Amino acid sequence: MSPASDPRFPSTAGEAPNAAWQRRSLASVWHPCTQMQRAQTVPPLPIARASGPWLYDYEGGRYFDANSSWWVNLFGHADARLNAALRDQLDTLPHVMLAGCTHAPAVELAERLNALTGGVLGHAFYASDGASAVEIALKMSFHAWRNRGRGNKREFVCVRQGYHGETLGALAVTDVAVFRDAYDPLLMRAHLVASPDARLAAAGESPADVAARALAEVRALFESRHEHIAAFIVEPLVQCAAGMAMHDPAYLRGLRALCDDYEVHLIADEIAVGCGRSGSFFAFEQAAAPAQPAAWPDFVCLSKGISGGYLPLSLVLTRDEIYRVFLDDDIARGFLHSHSYTGNALACRAALAVLDRFAEDDVIARNRAPAAALSAALAPLAEDERIEHLRQRGMIWAFDVREPHAGERFAERFHLAGRARGLLIRPIGRTVYLMPPYVLDDELAAWLAARTLGTLEQTLADAARAAPHHVARTPEPPTA
Ligand SMILES: Cc1ncc(COP(=O)(O)O)c(C=O)c1O
Repeated sequence: MSPASDPRFPSTAGEAPNAAWQRRSLASVWHPCTQMQRAQTVPPLPIARASGPWLYDYEGGRYFDANSSWWVNLFGHADARLNAALRDQLDTLPHVMLAGCTHAPAVELAERLNALTGGVLGHAFYASDGASAVEIALKMSFHAWRNRGRGNKREFVCVRQGYHGETLGALAVTDVAVFRDAYDPLLMRAHLVASPDARLAAAGESPADVAARALAEVRALFESRHEHIAAFIVEPLVQCAAGMAMHDPAYLRGLRALCDDYEVHLIADEIAVGCGRSGSFFAFEQAAAPAQPAAWPDFVCLSKGISGGYLPLSLVLTRDEIYRVFLDDDIARGFLHSHSYTGNALACRAALAVLDRFAEDDVIARNRAPAAALSAALAPLAEDERIEHLRQRGMIWAFDVREPHAGERFAERFHLAGRARGLLIRPIGRTVYLMPPYVLDDELAAWLAARTLGTLEQTLADAARAAPHHVARTPEPPTA
């Protein structure tokens, strides 16, 4: 039986194109991060093409990609400069294995990323998805200690609410129940320490106080276990999957110092927050105290934005001291990890085009004005008693809807109300966030804020109607 004729999803005469693709998708595609039973009620949005920040369905409907297609897209879809670079690479060398061969895009990308760390992180190990980079960093840390005769250092420390991907190693250092719990029996044990999430501040506490409290817990753990601990893994500045939990950069400074004091590797998972998302190219750049030298981690994992939202690419940057620990006549002391598409030439070329954009367009500085405009347009939320923790870091904005205002299935209802207003937006629980491509101008920022606020008003008004006893009356929605 062809999937298109699956009797569970029968076609109807004169079926509209969007409905047809939804039907065929449900008949044959197992969608990620989706309860497929629910997908039959809320089918996926069929996208025919994309341009700039806009996604178009098969019937001409247009949607602003407010989460940059799972945080990967930086310069909009089908960007002319990235397209040209990829076409050129396509005609030159799409792919060759990176074991025993090398090629210009992989070399140049490693060199240029190394230069962006001031030469501190001198070697790049390539992979494809974010989770693979996390696996590599964890294995590399353990193996580096082992090669130094310290194979007892094989434990990892991760942060509450942290997310590092869904392969088994990455999931073992992830603390998001909905992704992790079913697989818990399969996972290696890791130490969990308090999150520095600024929302955890007690009355009178600053974000730096929360960071200091969290660091005290790390120190206590290191004090008792450092002989056994290989590495600490952290999402610098924003724990994105936890619901855009933001923390004070002092936390990163403190972690660097503790890891130095107790001989523990520090892994910065910049898969989501790297490439300018946090307001600097690497989030960890913000760890340096004013007028102090940069404080770099031992490993940086990059993925998502590095290839501009075009192709799967991830990599782990590491210090040359760590790289050298693997050099030996004994093959088994080398890092023998690999993936077939490691260092794919097309993906590396996309990444080089991304770095060109940063250099040519001064992207970090250019983002500041539209970011300020979007923050200003969202500012009324700070006065809204139904909302808490309005926050921003770089090109990430988030706010939480208080209970009981959110109501049942808030994220899904918000998402659907957003679609109806031309917005593709996927709240995480009660947290609404925006992570737009770096193509905002003042006008687009105003449009995006107005549509977000309009979507919020409708979603909360619907919740109030559905459960009038629990939900306070809401003001009239503004026109969006
Ligand atoms: C911080 C962080 N680490 C790792 C990952 C996993 O990346 P991937 O989904 O490409 O495996 C993600 C994905 O959202 C992430 O946000």
